[in-house]
Parts: sequence; C-alpha cells; structure tokens
Amino acid sequence: MTAAVARTGLAPSPLRGEGWGEGLPERAASHISSVPRQPLLQLEKINSFYGPVQAHFDLDLEVRPGQIVSLLGGNASGKSTTMKVVLGLLKPRSGDVRFEGKSIVGLGTPQVIRRGIGSVPEARRLFPAMTVRENLLMGAYARNDRKGVAEDLGRMLDLFPRVAERIEFQAGTLSGGEQQMVAMARALMGRPKLLCMDEPTMGLSPLYVDKVLALIAQINGQGVSVFMVEQNASLALQIAHYGYVLQTGRIALRGPARELLADARIRDAYLGGGDAARTAS
Ligand SMILES: Nc1ncnc2c1ncn2[C@@H]1O[C@H](COP(=O)(O)OP(=O)(O)OP(=O)(O)O)[C@@H](O)[C@H]1O
Ligand SMILES: [Mg+2]
Repeated sequence: MTAAVARTGLAPSPLRGEGWGEGLPERAASHISSVPRQPLLQLEKINSFYGPVQAHFDLDLEVRPGQIVSLLGGNASGKSTTMKVVLGLLKPRSGDVRFEGKSIVGLGTPQVIRRGIGSVPEARRLFPAMTVRENLLMGAYARNDRKGVAEDLGRMLDLFPRVAERIEFQAGTLSGGEQQMVAMARALMGRPKLLCMDEPTMGLSPLYVDKVLALIAQINGQGVSVFMVEQNASLALQIAHYGYVLQTGRIALRGPARELLADARIRDAYLGGGDAARTAS
C-alpha cells in the first residue's frame, strides 16, 4: 500500500475538525448491491472521432444512481473525450448516450446541464476576473428560483468553508486547491443529479488532494452521483464504487473499485505511480 493510499484510507479521517467535512465515509459492499439497476448515465457503443483520428472504439460505460464511478487510464487514452461526449461538446459518430433512460446525443451543453448533469472541467476553468461569489452564481444560471439559489449558496459555503472565506476575492487569485473547491461548488449550484469531474486532483498538493476526495465522497453521500476521470488510480478507487480503465479508446478493464484495487494488472500499470502523480501546486 502506498503512503498516498494510507493517507486517504477509509479509516476515520484526519481531516475531521478542519472544517472540510467529515472525511471519507465507510463504503460497505452492501451499499453497491443496494444500487438500483437502471443506469443514470449510459454510454453504448460510442465511436468518436477528431477528424480522421478515432478516439473511442465501441465504448460502453454506465453510472448507476448513487455511485461514484472512476474512469482511469494513461495519457491520451480518451478520458477527457469521454467527458466531452457526455457533456455534448463532441458528438459521437455512432452510439448512444442516455441520461435517465433518454438519449442526450446531439443536445448542446446547456441542455445537457439542464437535464441534471454538472461539470467540473479539466483545469477548472473559472472566470478569473470575477469574484468567487459571481463564479458560484454562474453555476445557477439556468435556475430561476432565487430563494433556492440563495439557500444553495449558503449550503455551499457551509460545505466549503475555505470558499466562504474567499467569497469576495477574484477567483484568479485563489490557490489551485481553492479554485478546485470553487469549481465543485459552482457545478453543485446547478443542483446536478450527476457530477462529472475531469482530473479533480490534478496539480494539487497532497493535503488538497485528500480534501477534494473527502468532499467528493461527502457530496456523493448527500445523493449526487459522480463520474470522475482520474489518472491517480489508487486515490480514485479509494472513494469509487466502480471503475473503468481506458486504453487507447477501449475499455481494457472494469469492475467494482475494491476488485480493481486488488487487481495485479491495475497495481502494475497504475498504482505504483500513485505518489509520483501527486505534484504540489
Ligand atoms: N481537440 C482535439 N483534436 C484532435 N485530437 C484530439 C483533440 N483532443 C484530444 N485529441 C486526441 O484524442 C485522444 C484522446 O485524448 P483525451 O484528451 O481524451 O485523452 P485523456 O485520456 O484525457 O488524456 P490526458 O490524461 O492526457 O488528459 C488523444 O490521442 C488526443 O491526442
Ligand atoms: Mg484529459
């Protein structure tokens, strides 16, 4: 077991009492078996292209309600492209994407978000010159229930106390970890059923990696399903229920997170690099 795994293990969290939530919850196998059968998100036989270059080959993948699903894989394996396909940023040449049983292929990103999918993009993409508060309110742009938005803003500031402290700061002045919190809170302001996150721990210091993962688990505990792309397999699988490993656009391996964590192929290919992948911001 790497030091990173030990630090983010499922034992009572050292984060408790720091105002970052209650740490990583226990994940019992019974929780997985109690998940309903109908997928929340389903990708079926997706073939996507950038011009002549094929990025996905008959990609099948699903997220069931209540789950955290991690999409793992090396550089250029097609992870971010999968997010683009889900969010309507890239239309697959063939195959279907269904959310709550209905096809969302061909919808624009705003419509996809209105259906209940929240996005925390790669590198966070905040509006750097706007304040943290303005960034958070942008996440609720599709809502017109002002009272509910105000209540949710209060909830976000409870969930992310560090964000509350920085609420009137320009977003671009925050540290990488703080910006990640703002990006998560902004996505949650849209009240998503499914939160899609592309490399939420990338570039963060070990302390912030732990905080972000604990918050993802906490958000999931409050009923939001999560689909997250991660290169850091050992950490992602600590909080996930299920994982997929992409290799040049194809699913090379899939299974319950605990089985993948124990799988020698995953250990050899990915888990050895767990600590090396954690670079301080
Ligand atoms: N806009 C683009 N135009 C052309 N090719 C692209 C584009 N974006 C991605 N690709 C190609 O598609 C493939 C998958 O890229 P993708 O960004 O999905 O990988 P990834 O798994 O997210 O990688 P990383 O871990 O480096 O973020 C790569 O071969 C990449 O070069
Ligand atoms: Mg990527």
